[in-house]
Amino acid sequence: MTARPAKSKSAAKKTMAAQADVHALYERAVQDPGNDVKFFTRIYKKLRGHDPVSLREDFCGTAVLCAEWVKSGAERTALGVDLSQETINWGLEHRIVPAGRAVASRISLVCADVRDVKKPKVDIACALNFSYYCFKRRDELLDYFRAVHAGLAKDGLFFLDLLGGTEAIMEGSTDNDHGDFVYRWEQARFDALTHDFLCHIHFLFPDGSKLLEAFTYDWRLWMAPELRDLLLEAGFSKVHAYWEKTNAEGEGTGVFYEPDYVENQEIWWTYLAAER
Ligand SMILES: C[S@@+](CC[C@H](N)C(=O)[O-])C[C@H]1O[C@@H](n2cnc3c(N)ncnc32)[C@H](O)[C@@H]1O
Repeated sequence: MTARPAKSKSAAKKTMAAQADVHALYERAVQDPGNDVKFFTRIYKKLRGHDPVSLREDFCGTAVLCAEWVKSGAERTALGVDLSQETINWGLEHRIVPAGRAVASRISLVCADVRDVKKPKVDIACALNFSYYCFKRRDELLDYFRAVHAGLAKDGLFFLDLLGGTEAIMEGSTDNDHGDFVYRWEQARFDALTHDFLCHIHFLFPDGSKLLEAFTYDWRLWMAPELRDLLLEAGFSKVHAYWEKTNAEGEGTGVFYEPDYVENQEIWWTYLAAER
């Protein structure tokens, strides 16, 4: 009888943090590509009267939204742009190739600065999870918005999200329990005069292990009116701001509308859509 090979000490002792994949955790903690696709499609159809086909996901990371977009329609195509080749490779291996040839053949991923990609022209461009906050100077953000405008087809729309509320401009952290891990969002430093905004994502595990500063963002927290002004200056003809409907308990329903007035809250995020 052969003896079962003994587990190596290091494998037996591997913590949950050591076994975790930060890209998979990130997607589960902060992304909701299915709802993004539904929202973009609904708003595009409402404003343009026909179905959008092509999407460019700026700051695409693992390109999970590109994959979801292409899966949502047989004609749909997606282009993902990100500066990190390592993250793009992870997305190719875990999200694009496993989706099968019919999906993968309609997705292109490019390792580039989002300001340098203006072709092919797309129906929808998007920048989610506040990624464009990396452009801290007004002229940098304006350059980016001009590049997006130049890369849109005639009926094109640009979707971006933003963060706000009285707690968005404070230091502190919030925890979200996902069962097998806790996602901690830390606003480590907020400068009241410049709006420089240093944030970290940490992951904490039930065995007590942690992945501290798994992701760090050195951003400027841009405000809604500043964004609207810059989008119009960049050449967009109209900017729509959306707000999430809440139920009787005050919880978000995932349904967004265009409000006339919004009373500020402790923390909120929402979408803008800019018409080319
Ligand atoms: C916050 S993650 C966004 C990931 C994903 N799109 C999402 O919605 O969660 C920011 C990504 O932007 C990329 N990035 C930062 N600056 C960039 C730039 N100038 N051009 C292209 N990608 C950039 C980073 O490599 C990173 O993958």
